[in-house]
Amino acid sequence: MRLKDRVAVVTGGGQGIGRGISLMFAREGARLAIAQRTAEKLEQTRKDIEAMGGEVIAVPTDVRHPEQVKNLIDAAQQRYGGLDVLVNNAGIGLRVPVDEVTVEDYDRLMDTNLKGLYMGCHYGVPAMKARGQGSIINISSVHGVDGAPLNTVYAATKGGIIGCTRALAAELAPFLIRVNTISPGAIRIHDPQERMERILSYVKEEFHDEFRERFADRLDEGSRFFQPLEIVGEPEDIAYAAVWLASDEGRFVTGQNIVIDGGLTTYLAGHASERARERGGTSIWREMRDWMETHAKEGAEWPGRRPR
Ligand SMILES: NC(=O)c1ccc[n+]([C@@H]2O[C@H](COP(=O)([O-])OP(=O)(O)OC[C@H]3O[C@@H](n4cnc5c(N)ncnc54)[C@H](O)[C@@H]3O)[C@@H](O)[C@H]2O)c1
Repeated sequence: MRLKDRVAVVTGGGQGIGRGISLMFAREGARLAIAQRTAEKLEQTRKDIEAMGGEVIAVPTDVRHPEQVKNLIDAAQQRYGGLDVLVNNAGIGLRVPVDEVTVEDYDRLMDTNLKGLYMGCHYGVPAMKARGQGSIINISSVHGVDGAPLNTVYAATKGGIIGCTRALAAELAPFLIRVNTISPGAIRIHDPQERMERILSYVKEEFHDEFRERFADRLDEGSRFFQPLEIVGEPEDIAYAAVWLASDEGRFVTGQNIVIDGGLTTYLAGHASERARERGGTSIWREMRDWMETHAKEGAEWPGRRPR
């Protein structure tokens, strides 16, 4: 077990990528404190880890509030007597044209993705210094590296994470605390059933059958064909890297941004879309978007909606 008895905090640890990391950390012997804002999925992941024989506490936390982040770090230390690994994974997205972004949107993303992460480091580092070592893993995104329309605030937060990581790595190297970023590309975070239900929640009921008939078998195509490897990533693809960075195997790695994206960022943006178009990836997105424009519920703001 590569993380035997290491104490790890994972924010956003109850679902999606964070859940994938938490489960793999537990399998590798870590003692966990998992946190997120919504309690239900957090509780499910806690139960799943316990069922595997893992050690875990669930600490409902809104990372936008520094005192709650402090409470999370304190809870891990009180339960396990220290802190070795901090995964700052909690985050939210936003796809809106720059001239329509509100100050509230901006603050919500900054507070969640960047301030929350920063405060995690702020409160976690003293515990790691006391331990004489540590590993901080910050989850950014390909949007922190490359540009894409409508993602300006998200990109600002994710680019900020990469800058913060490098400065912190330099500052904390003398304490043997390593700080790295993982930047995922497209990762599948909902099972097909859940994904279908989410999309249908935007569609007028009388068109649900038509949507299923038309798109059910092709929902992954858009994301799949956008990437040179032609697969969509899974949370485990990120978790493997997180385990490596958290373990002694990563002892010589700090200040790095590890991009895990099926090769997406190896292409210039124009080539990526051209390639996806050749394979039908963008046509399914366009077809779905056009279909949704006429079949969505009044006022529904589904992800990927045409910029207004
Ligand atoms: N899925 C992808 O394709 C992808 C790609 C690149 C980067 N990411 C990043 O991965 C991270 C995890 O996202 P995901 O894809 O698993 O999505 P997700 O929505 O399933 O998970 C986001 C997690 O963050 C938590 N969270 C959100 N706001 C919070 C708050 N204020 N306080 C505490 N927790 C909060 C949620 O409860 C959830 O656990 C995010 O930082 C995201 O930006 C995801």
